[in-house]
Amino acid sequence: MRMVDLIRKKRHGGELEEREIRFVIDGLVNGAVPDYQMAAWAMAVCFVGMTDRETAALTMAMAESGDTVDLSEIAGIKVDKHSTGGVGDKTTLIVAPLVAACGVPVAKMSGRGLGHTGGTVDKLESIAGFHTELGREAFFKQVNEIGVAVIGQSGNIAPADKKLYALRDVTGTVESVPLIASSVMSKKIAAGADAILLDVKFGSGAFMKTAEEAKTLAEAMVAIGSQVGRRTVAVISDMDQPLGRTVGNALEVREAIEVLRGEGPDDLRELCLVLGSHMLVLGGRAESAEAARARLEEAIASGAALRKFADLLAAQGGDPAVAHDPALLPQAELRIPVRAAGAGFVAAIDAERIGLAAMLLGAGRAEKDDAIDYAVGLELVAKLGDAVEAGDTLAVLYARADDAKAQESAESVLAAYRLASGRPAPQPLLHGIVGAE
Ligand code: URA
Repeated sequence: MRMVDLIRKKRHGGELEEREIRFVIDGLVNGAVPDYQMAAWAMAVCFVGMTDRETAALTMAMAESGDTVDLSEIAGIKVDKHSTGGVGDKTTLIVAPLVAACGVPVAKMSGRGLGHTGGTVDKLESIAGFHTELGREAFFKQVNEIGVAVIGQSGNIAPADKKLYALRDVTGTVESVPLIASSVMSKKIAAGADAILLDVKFGSGAFMKTAEEAKTLAEAMVAIGSQVGRRTVAVISDMDQPLGRTVGNALEVREAIEVLRGEGPDDLRELCLVLGSHMLVLGGRAESAEAARARLEEAIASGAALRKFADLLAAQGGDPAVAHDPALLPQAELRIPVRAAGAGFVAAIDAERIGLAAMLLGAGRAEKDDAIDYAVGLELVAKLGDAVEAGDTLAVLYARADDAKAQESAESVLAAYRLASGRPAPQPLLHGIVGAE
C-alpha cells in the first residue's frame, strides 16, 4: 500500500477501506507517512468529505493510536460529557456533581484552557489545594466511592489526533466536518465512557458559526457513536454571547456554586438541566428527559448536588468549605467598571472578544505553559436584549492592582458590545437535540 495512492483515491472521491485508513493513521503515528502527504490527504478530505463508514474507521484508528481507558472497574453506565468549547462555559463544574448526586457515575477527563476558551481543569485548580492528577487506581476508587472524579487528560490519549490536529491547524484543513467529528469522538472513545453527551455550540464564541453547521457536526458525531457502539446524544446550544455572567477561573467556580445552590443565571442553569437530563437518561437513571429534569431539580433543591460538589473538592485535596463560602476563592484587588458610551439595547456581545479580554487580564494562556491568574476575569452586567443608558455599567473587570493590560482589556470588552436602537429578538439558547430517543 502506498500513501500517494490513498491520497489520489480520496481526491477522486473514492471510499477508503478500513485497512487503508489504518495504514494512514499508523503511518502518521510511526513516522512512515510524512507530514506533507498527511496534509495533502487531509486537504482531499476537506474537499471530498468522507462517508459515515470512513469517518467511523478514522475515529477508531485515532482512538486506538495511544492509551485507551478501561472504565469497567467502575460500576454502572459511565456517561461522558464534552463541550465543543466556548466562553464562560462552566457547565462541567455543575453537571458533574449534579448527575453524580442522581446516581450516574462521572469519571471525567477534562482539559485546560487555551486561547480565548477556558478549561475545566484550570477552573477547578483555582480552588486552593485541588489537584487533578490522580493515578488510575485512585481515580476508579474515588468514582466508586463518591460517584465523581475530574482529572486532567493523560498525555497519550489519541496521539494520532494530536499530530493530525497540529498539522490541520497550519495547513488550512481544520474546517471539515468528518475531521472535526472524528477528532472529538476519538478522544471521548479512548477515554472509555459507555455513552457520550455532546454540547455542540455555535455563534461568535464557538468553532461553528451557525446553528446549521453545528447541526451537521452534531449529526456526524452521533452517527460515529452509533457506528462504534457508544450511545451519543448532542445538544445544540447558542454561544453567541458568553454563557452565564462570569468569565475567569475562580469567578466561574463562584457562579457554578450559585447554580448548585439553586441561584445563578437562567441561561447557565437551563443548559445544565438540559445536559444533565440527557446524561441521566443515557445513564439509565431516568425514563425520559422530563423525569430526569425533575430529579435534577430535586437534587439542587435538597442540597444534594452542592454536597456532592463539596465531596468532590474534599476527595481531590480542595477545601470543601469553598462550596458553602465562595469568598474563600482567590480574589482580585480591583473592580473596574466598563461603561456604555451611549444608550440602546445590547444587540451583540462578541464572545471571542470577551474571552480575549479575560485572557489579557491573565485568566487564560497564549502558550501551553503560561501561568494563569485564577482570581482575574470579568462579569457581564448587561446581556443580549438588555436596555442600557449612557454611563451604565456593561461589565466589571476583576484585575490586579498592577495590571498594565487592564485598559486594553476594558477596550476589548467595550468593542465586544454592540448597541442598537431597537430591542433585538430574543435568541433561544437551545437549537435542537440530535440522537435522543
Ligand atoms: N476540537 C477538537 O477536538 N478537534 C477539532 O478538530 C476541532 C475542535
